[in-house]
Amino acid sequence: MKLRGRHLLGLDGMSREDISLILDTAVSFKEVLERPIKKVPPLQGKTIVNLFFEASTRTRISFELAERRLSADVVTFSTAGSSVSKGETLKDTARNIEAMKIDMVVIRHSAPGAAHFLSRVVKANVINAGDGGHEHPTQALLDMLTLREKYATLEKLKVCIVGDIAHSRVARSNIYGLKTMGAEVSVCGPATLIPRDIERLGVRVFHRLEEVVKEVDVINVLRIQLERQESGLFPSLREYHRYFGVTKEKVAKAPKPITIMHPGPINRDVELSADLADSEHSVILQQVTNGVAVRMAALYLLGISN
Ligand code: CP
Repeated sequence: MKLRGRHLLGLDGMSREDISLILDTAVSFKEVLERPIKKVPPLQGKTIVNLFFEASTRTRISFELAERRLSADVVTFSTAGSSVSKGETLKDTARNIEAMKIDMVVIRHSAPGAAHFLSRVVKANVINAGDGGHEHPTQALLDMLTLREKYATLEKLKVCIVGDIAHSRVARSNIYGLKTMGAEVSVCGPATLIPRDIERLGVRVFHRLEEVVKEVDVINVLRIQLERQESGLFPSLREYHRYFGVTKEKVAKAPKPITIMHPGPINRDVELSADLADSEHSVILQQVTNGVAVRMAALYLLGISN
């Protein structure tokens, strides 16, 4: 089985079959990751460049591990903090990729559409590792794998994404992917952090966590970007924590156990209480483990499409 496209740019429009293929392939790679020697040869001879124009810990390390475990030759380039003009950098980057005969590119960039742009101008397969507030497809795929492991199916699973929905690529990719797989998705946060027309994506909107916990199976807590504090979108981190911080006390009122997810990095005791993050309800570290397997699956499936 092969993926329909040559790139992984987002989950908007990705078919149920393609999502299932990536998740099923990731399950096979999880078995490889349990072996004493965690390396297989399918991308031997392929050259992959990881272009991180924005800070990353989990995604960058996870892609690098995935690529090495598939035996690819890997180069990682980080320019976080650089002041170079984004447009010029991307154009130059594309030229360099063509000149160096790179087979696959993983790109994180602050500009929405950066991965799409690159995919139009280079021959290499492109994977979006997060483009501004647009999409972060491998994060949503690893979230879905984690939930599928726990609940066997995503069909009818009730998932609420809590936090800054307006600026979140993780929220968008999760909404697209989960809806395609039949989950019932809702969002919760202050009105200032929820796009007005979000219902068009087929999600319910909550503004009170107390209502969310009565209904859902899963809460995916988003990081509050601390810099948003300055923008007046919510009064203070203390206020945010009081109304939208996900805590043990709040989820204790749920009629059934709620699974807690977070893409990282966590602001402990801001959007998520430390005790809940470390509790038996949390699958945050399983998400990180699954990230490597999902990225191996995406790289492998795109690599064999050439
Ligand atoms: N989840 C995620 O994208 O984390 P990083 O920003 O550390 O890659």
